[in-house]
Amino acid sequence: MCYNTAMTAAKLLLDKKREGHALGSAEIREFVTGFTRGEIPDYQMSAFAMAVCCRGMTPRETADLTDAMMRSGVTVDWRDVPLPTADKHSTGGVGDKLSLVVQPLAAACGVAVPSLTGRGLGITGGTADKLETIPGYNAALSLDAFKRVVSEVGVSMTVQTEEICPADRKLYALRDVTGTVASIPLICSSILSKKWAEGAGTLVFDVKVGSGAFMKTREEAHELATALVTSSRAAGRKAAALVTDMDAPLGFAVGNVNEVAEAIAMLNGERPGAVLDLCVEEAALMVSLARDLPLDEARAMCLARLADGAAFAKFAQMVAAQGGDLDRFARLREAPTFKFRIQAMKSGFVAAIDADRVGRVALALGAGRERAGDRIDPLAGVTLSVQVGDRVAVGAPLATLEKSTAPEGLEKAAAELYKAFRVEPAAPEPKPLVIERIV
Ligand code: URA
Repeated sequence: MCYNTAMTAAKLLLDKKREGHALGSAEIREFVTGFTRGEIPDYQMSAFAMAVCCRGMTPRETADLTDAMMRSGVTVDWRDVPLPTADKHSTGGVGDKLSLVVQPLAAACGVAVPSLTGRGLGITGGTADKLETIPGYNAALSLDAFKRVVSEVGVSMTVQTEEICPADRKLYALRDVTGTVASIPLICSSILSKKWAEGAGTLVFDVKVGSGAFMKTREEAHELATALVTSSRAAGRKAAALVTDMDAPLGFAVGNVNEVAEAIAMLNGERPGAVLDLCVEEAALMVSLARDLPLDEARAMCLARLADGAAFAKFAQMVAAQGGDLDRFARLREAPTFKFRIQAMKSGFVAAIDADRVGRVALALGAGRERAGDRIDPLAGVTLSVQVGDRVAVGAPLATLEKSTAPEGLEKAAAELYKAFRVEPAAPEPKPLVIERIV
């Protein structure tokens, strides 16, 4: 379509959406194609994003937008791999190192796991940044290398390449600066277009809700989780979702090197607890759906593969196949860093650890990025000494802040971190991590 014709068609589409009418499949496809080719200017796409924020989209329109964005780039085909394929996606949180455990664990249970992952932004960490702290690990494989590692090892984690969903990349950049991120149809189509392009037959979604999550209310999280699952099923994928709590950081480590170390400890069975249980649940859902097994059987298989070392072995094979060196990683933890420890000033029970505040402190220490492209300090972060529900005495350690660049800022960050902890005389009600299951 020529430039002017595309722009005129876009104007009619914008009028229609503004008035609250549903758009046709062909209209959406042509609009996204025109945008990808540069025939539809950014201002028209920005207006579209705002109209969707205000007017919403029907499930069919959301599916059409997802499909059009998926087709804006390359789609990956796993027919040559003899195993069923599955991936899990988390909407992101603070201390969310679950993928590092879940993906190799599912792979150790006979599922091929092609996982295109992201970099961190704001308080949300990125799996690719964490993996890149392993010396030599290549988290930016070409699509051919990604396919080879999945075929040979059964699991690969790497960043989404340029060829996958260029329309989503362009649109997301506009949403970021036009106040149009917070729209369920736009979020849903953004996540799904990438996951569908990646080609896994089974998708398990972990939709986080709480202070450290993108979704702040259970209603929003429920809506997104339902949309992700129903749209994926309608497009012929097997899918399930868990809505999980993100009010407190997940586990003890928030950062990069410290999170990888914690994930390795979980893979080696050294960190039992609610976070490892959630990893097992997510991997079991992947295995159960992908292999058509009862969930109990898949769960038992995951526990057995953790116990016999197969899950860690899978992780180590993937790291080696992508050039990483776990011996050198282990030595990284011995590197000198600047540390500051905070302690309890009253005794009682840890009633809350505010994930958002912990995430912001870790970000300020250099563990994350304020803006895409910022450099991160791999050793920076926060390591908690306690979890919600633990009893503490006066002077007991609550957390350690760490950075490798310079000691400046540590004390101020420590004062801020202290505010994340609420210590009460009585033990809090235990709160499960899994809030809702859509399976
Ligand atoms: N993650 C995505 O990939 N896209 C969104 O729109 C929001 C979160």
